[in-house]
Amino acid sequence: MNLETISFKNNTLKILDQTFLPNRQEFVVLSQLDEVINAIRTLKVRGAPAIGIVAAYGLYVHARNLQKRNALSLQALQEAGDLLKAARPTAVNLAWAVDRLLKAVSGQNDSSAILQILRDEAIAVHEEDKAMCDSIGEHGSKLVGQRSNILTHCNTGFLATGGIGTALGVVYKAFQQGKQIHVFTDETRPVGQGARLTYWELQQNGIPATLITDNMAGFLMKQKKVDLIITGADRIAANGDTANKIGTYSLAVLAKHHGIPFYVAAPSSTFDLSLESGEAIPIEQRPADEILNCWQFENRERYRVYNPAFDVTDHELIHGIITELGIIEHPNKEKIINFYQTFNKGDLL
Ligand code: MRU
Repeated sequence: MNLETISFKNNTLKILDQTFLPNRQEFVVLSQLDEVINAIRTLKVRGAPAIGIVAAYGLYVHARNLQKRNALSLQALQEAGDLLKAARPTAVNLAWAVDRLLKAVSGQNDSSAILQILRDEAIAVHEEDKAMCDSIGEHGSKLVGQRSNILTHCNTGFLATGGIGTALGVVYKAFQQGKQIHVFTDETRPVGQGARLTYWELQQNGIPATLITDNMAGFLMKQKKVDLIITGADRIAANGDTANKIGTYSLAVLAKHHGIPFYVAAPSSTFDLSLESGEAIPIEQRPADEILNCWQFENRERYRVYNPAFDVTDHELIHGIITELGIIEHPNKEKIINFYQTFNKGDLL
């Protein structure tokens, strides 16, 4: 797929507005901090790595605006960073990217140097994510049999990352390798990332897919129609507990019951080793309208709605975490720390 879902050319940040998909491909330019924050909050751009990339470019765009008004300072950048990070609380890639840029400019007081560093760092966040997706795809594709029915949840592909994706990156690589792949795409209520985005992406790339409602997954497993389940992640705690789109936990429980391998695919920017376990991961609560919009209710005010955007899957339910550095099988705290020590990822530990 040659669609640039996040582009940054001539200092202009442009994104494909995902809220119009699959019906229309509309791009929107984000030239102000509040536009970037709004785009993240309203899911014009979504998916953990993608929001980190857009936040990084957004901080640079904001820094340029500040400089034009002679108002660029580290304090002003810090404040902007806090606002960006608050846009969506669960996916750690957002805070990770913002903090990475702020750290890169700490101690600098020359505005041209600050701008140059922010720009370079934002581009690096984007480029590195592309490369991480490719490596995740390579490692994960080894788990995929020659003929495979893969079930996935939410959207984890081109739209959600800077490259080919994480869980969908595995699908794309395996398909490229000539494997016969078919993907069951969970609808992913209430926002429909599976129905609107994943199904569309797979179609664009010629990969056979079948759309199912979320509550059909268990029956499919029972009917032995699913060989492998791969999802993405929004934040992985030090012990491997993983926050991902609401509904992921149910899939993992069902997978265990049916003896189906359940894998999570994520770059190292999705790990938050400062958190002992998934219990400490903040879960974003989304507006009631996201659920009510699924229906043509006449009296919306009658409904009390609970709408957590994510759930947490216990590490014991996860067969492995596919990262750009390799696969952490049956993850737990010791294995994750050893894994990152082996690869010298001191920034994570
Ligand atoms: O609310 P969303 O659409 O941002 O949720 C996205 C997910 O849960 C994805 O699975 C996750 O961010 C990984 S994307 C590579």
